[in-house]
Amino acid sequence: MMESGLKKIRWAEKNMKVLGKIRRKFSEEKPFDGIRIGIALHLEAKTAVLIETLVEGGAEVYATSCNPLTTQDDVAMAISEIAEVRAWRGETEEEYYENLRFVLRNSDFVIDDGADLIVLNHLEGIGNPKGACEETTTGIRRVNALERERKLKFPVIGVNDSKMKYLFDNRFGTGQSVIDGIMRSTNSLLAGKNFVVIGYGWCGRGIAMRARGMGAKVIVCEVDPVRAVEALLDGFEVMKISEASRIGDFFVTATGCKDVLRREHFLEMREGAILANAGHFNVEINLRDLEEISTEIKEVRNCVREYRLRNGRRIYLLGEGRLVNLVCGDGHPIEIMDISFSLQALSMRYLSENYPEMENRVYEVPKEIEEEVALEFLMSRGKSIDSLTEEQAKYLEDWTLGT
Ligand code: ADE
Repeated sequence: MMESGLKKIRWAEKNMKVLGKIRRKFSEEKPFDGIRIGIALHLEAKTAVLIETLVEGGAEVYATSCNPLTTQDDVAMAISEIAEVRAWRGETEEEYYENLRFVLRNSDFVIDDGADLIVLNHLEGIGNPKGACEETTTGIRRVNALERERKLKFPVIGVNDSKMKYLFDNRFGTGQSVIDGIMRSTNSLLAGKNFVVIGYGWCGRGIAMRARGMGAKVIVCEVDPVRAVEALLDGFEVMKISEASRIGDFFVTATGCKDVLRREHFLEMREGAILANAGHFNVEINLRDLEEISTEIKEVRNCVREYRLRNGRRIYLLGEGRLVNLVCGDGHPIEIMDISFSLQALSMRYLSENYPEMENRVYEVPKEIEEEVALEFLMSRGKSIDSLTEEQAKYLEDWTLGT
């Protein structure tokens, strides 16, 4: 095994206590014996620990990335000792899709992040998965659309929509890892700077919260009026992107939508403005616009591309507009991915055992799985909580009881 990849995996494994427990159980029970699980996830150390867990449970794993720039090659090489891996950092678009096709052809079940495997199966008819688990908000949007159009060909468990996922991964995970990616790539001070967060979903909330924690003056831009009120009452400045463009030092998109930052915004930006994307696809910052209004483009630092605009100002794009936390950093903190991947491992077990009775629709993560992961996580931190007495439980059930 490649030493650096292996070390990262072992470090992650040591700190993924919940998944470790699941792994020991899977090792005894072998729930995936004879099953091929296809994976399209960001191939970094925590993902490798998930793969090890599935393999320990008897699965044959076929793995690729869900983004052409987020594979860590040392990790991919290390994990290829136990799984069939087809991924490398810097894949072309064509190579990326070929790797997805390879995985699809070899999948009885799928773990997807962004739904590229699921969508490719529906568009091209490649492979014949019996079910899938989806990791992220963008993937849920796509599978919900498939379900709405009655085109979904197999059951999908929407892991992203479990509270144990989005409350922690999307908020605390993205919050910390996006700041980490920006700091690693720029080494810039955040304190006292204007930090513009575009989109106030769970990811945007986390990014805004952590940027404030670093001393930045945070501005939120949002199209949903209720979320905008929430941002305002959370204590952030709220304004239109066109206004924020004139004063922002940092801009982070977290909307799941396209063309969020575009020509008219770039042309208003200050000299030295830094742009990053935290959304799943690289469509939030319009790169074509940026290129068209630039007179010179160059790499000035690892992960940092300088665009000299025709107005003479320079603006800086991190990680080619792809997920800044994974392209310029290591993704979410280990303990966060311990929760998310424990939900994935247990949901995959549930799916593989129950798929014949399931319909072709999007399912929630079963409540028992959520509670098991929550309790195990608390236990891993040495915490225990109270339970209701029988009388209390009865009281809460009975609508006739008041005082
Ligand atoms: N590491 C592995 N998958 C990840 C994800 N979806 N987001 C952040 N970090 C990750």
